[in-house]
Amino acid sequence: MEQVKGVVSGSKGASVSVQSILVPDPGPGEARVKVQACGVCHTDLHYREGAITNDYPILLGHEAAGVVEKVGPGVENIAVGDYVILAWRAPCGTCRSCQRGRPWYCFASRNASQPMTLENGSALSNALGIGAFTELSLVHADQAVKVDSRARPEAAGLVGCGIMAGLGAALNTGAVGRGDSVAVFGCGGVGDAAIAGAKLAGAHTIIGVDIDARKLVQAKAFGATHTIDASAGDPVEAIRDLTGGNGANVCIDAVGIPETYKQAFFARDHAGTVVLVGVPNPDMKIELPLLEVFGRGGALKSSWYGDCLPTRDFPEIINLYLQGRLDLDGFVSETIPLDGVEDAFGKMQRGEVLRSVVVF
Ligand SMILES: NC(=O)c1ccc[n+]([C@@H]2O[C@H](COP(=O)([O-])OP(=O)(O)OC[C@H]3O[C@@H](n4cnc5c(N)ncnc54)[C@H](O)[C@@H]3O)[C@@H](O)[C@H]2O)c1
Ligand SMILES: [Zn+2]
Ligand SMILES: [Zn+2]
Repeated sequence: MEQVKGVVSGSKGASVSVQSILVPDPGPGEARVKVQACGVCHTDLHYREGAITNDYPILLGHEAAGVVEKVGPGVENIAVGDYVILAWRAPCGTCRSCQRGRPWYCFASRNASQPMTLENGSALSNALGIGAFTELSLVHADQAVKVDSRARPEAAGLVGCGIMAGLGAALNTGAVGRGDSVAVFGCGGVGDAAIAGAKLAGAHTIIGVDIDARKLVQAKAFGATHTIDASAGDPVEAIRDLTGGNGANVCIDAVGIPETYKQAFFARDHAGTVVLVGVPNPDMKIELPLLEVFGRGGALKSSWYGDCLPTRDFPEIINLYLQGRLDLDGFVSETIPLDGVEDAFGKMQRGEVLRSVVVF
């Protein structure tokens, strides 16, 4: 058992705080990771706002890279000293999806079996089954994916959630291909990663849509060929104008609110694909003309974690980064200390950052 500091969300809507937490020695199949960097993702804020679970207290943080510090009995995939990215999907191999060869839809993804706790012994639930705003994090060994240690942790950690979600929304869920037109709604960390993914896939036209002009400048740097400021009004017509009057082949909603989902739906070409990767709040609803759902054809898809398989995709993304073909550094707006997470939420809400990254 080790005592370290961690960022805890104690109750719905309340500010997060740094608290002492107890991290058990790894048991069978578990690993303890010395976290070197962990990004602040919008999903952490969703947890703090009570939009995901009421299971407080919650240890936040889930976009992390670090070094394996200790492994439990029976762990074979990693060893002490390995440089790893933490994954919130570690397919079980035996659920109905895994058994049918679709492990990215695994319904029983693996997590550590022992809880990390507060000093008073109360068990912490972990953001996305990880909990990595802490110097040491206990995970299932399969959640620790070994990657090339030349990638700096501030950049590599982001692959563990936002980058993978965005890249995968374009490459895996949306299956963007050469010559496609793509519109991305919301150019935050996830949306810009979707833009970068569309560029890697060889898309012809990549349209970044946001209500914040600063985000549109960054979207261009990641590969948007055009940008639209939606604060000026509905962007659907402008997207049609940029796509020969037809709409985009793939529309990716990286905000996750009814307004942007409807825009994505109507900005899509016939037989195109809508990908919802932004996470809606539980009270949100949409209404669509059913005839349009039918008549436009194509596919309305959701993207959980970019339909990724971490052991397949993380090392490849790091490889693209090290080859200079994917600018992971461009997502790191600032590095902050562990007690800077609450401030970082404010900066995220004010649109000042793509990612604030806690470094230890
Ligand atoms: N599906 C997944 O597996 C997965 C993984 C990670 C994050 N997410 C979700 O993705 C979403 C985006 O995360 P992020 O970290 O990039 O957040 P972020 O806050 O950095 O970015 C959101 C962006 O949307 C823009 N925006 C807000 N309202 C808009 C509107 N009406 N029209 C256009 N743009 C608008 C904001 O200006 C901002 O640039 C969140 O909902 C997050 O929870 C999903
Ligand atoms: Zn499974
Ligand atoms: Zn995340």
